[in-house]
Amino acid sequence: MQRENFTSRFGVLMAMAGSAIGLGNMWRFPYMVGEYGGAAFIIIYILCVFLLSLPILLCEFIIGRRSQKNAFGAFKKLAPGTAWKWAGLISLVAPLIIVSYYSVIGGWSIEYFFKACTFGFTDYVTHEELNTMFNDLVSSVWIPIFGHTFFLLITALIVMGGVKGGIERFGKIMMPILFVVVVLIAVRAMTLDGASEGIAYLFKPDFSKLNAEVCAAALGQSFFSLSLGCGTMLTYASYVNKSENIAKSSVSIAVSDLIFALIAGCAIMPAVFAFGLNPQEGPGLVFKTLPFIFSQMPLGSLVAILFFMALLIAALTSSISLFEVGVAYLVEEKGMNRKKSCMLIFMITWITGIFCSLSFGPLSDFKIIGNTIFDFFDKLSANFLMTIGSFIVVMFAGWKMKKSDVMDEFTNGGTIKGNVKSFNFIWFLIRWVAPLTIILIFLSNLFL
Ligand code: PHE
Repeated sequence: MQRENFTSRFGVLMAMAGSAIGLGNMWRFPYMVGEYGGAAFIIIYILCVFLLSLPILLCEFIIGRRSQKNAFGAFKKLAPGTAWKWAGLISLVAPLIIVSYYSVIGGWSIEYFFKACTFGFTDYVTHEELNTMFNDLVSSVWIPIFGHTFFLLITALIVMGGVKGGIERFGKIMMPILFVVVVLIAVRAMTLDGASEGIAYLFKPDFSKLNAEVCAAALGQSFFSLSLGCGTMLTYASYVNKSENIAKSSVSIAVSDLIFALIAGCAIMPAVFAFGLNPQEGPGLVFKTLPFIFSQMPLGSLVAILFFMALLIAALTSSISLFEVGVAYLVEEKGMNRKKSCMLIFMITWITGIFCSLSFGPLSDFKIIGNTIFDFFDKLSANFLMTIGSFIVVMFAGWKMKKSDVMDEFTNGGTIKGNVKSFNFIWFLIRWVAPLTIILIFLSNLFL
């Protein structure tokens, strides 16, 4: 059977940027900036993106496009008869774990989107009331499970539509909408009275806040945000045309992801400061602080609808990429058809997701190594599996693949002159800088 490919350069960019741009940008990045000292964190983050995450992304591109296979099959094809194929297995587990908790947050976004559409936030006058509403929602049993189910169902249906008709089409339509909406919200937030303090918070660096923990957090976030180390970019790259310039595509993806995170910061922080609220609210920033701001600010009801719509789109384009990793594996390695594969992945992640959802309520006392199920999944994937997965791809491209093959893939057989020139520098980053830094982060995650 002919393998499906993305059909246009724009489609590739939208699908891959869609995977990268997600809750990581709109939910995690702003609260991390808040917790880790504003602009100083952003500067470290930018360095991490370009010096470390970008080379890893390139490795995923190289392995995926060269093999034209799923995350498991790629290693099997490029290093036949070796134990490397088991390395691909990590890439299959991580996305399942991430989807499980990602879709719980996706479910909350659905609830909040509906609340916004019915002008639900205007009934709440104090910040405490909104806190209570959020806590009541997430700790209840049925509503969040319903949201999670609904979110996962939409994800499965899009992936069922195929690479071209489902994933690429959804990205091409939704990503531009997402971008326009977030820019609009940022403009509204930055024109509020008192917004300038929030902008200063984002862009004025205070280096005294920096320490090893902040650097490790910035690195972890850059992996998470670029969807690295869990087979998603590798799988998508396997659908990329052989004539595409992968260096250019990777840079475009990394830059769009970064710009988007910054715009999301500009949509959130100025408003937080304009209303004299605490930027260090943590994960609750988006679901507790923002609805309060929306309930108070002029045009707030409209902004609330747009914001939660954006959050939902961003979450969906990422979760479909996570879903596709497992589906591509089942279709190519196990010979299942796409529909059945989607149903199977749906069932697995639906069940694990229910446990994640319940860990805010009835199962909140059930702890794994001191963490609730949700937190455990989050930490396990972001701090460990994605780091190990990234290590595997850089070691494979840098030390297992032949240098000539890597160069061939990176330069499209020597035809892209700019890539030929920069190859030695990239090769050095892939072989030395990336693996050594990953080991450092890994150790710091274990011990910090
Ligand atoms: N990059 C996505 C985000 O920023 C999350 C993600 C991680 C998606 C890993 C796919 C794979 O939200």
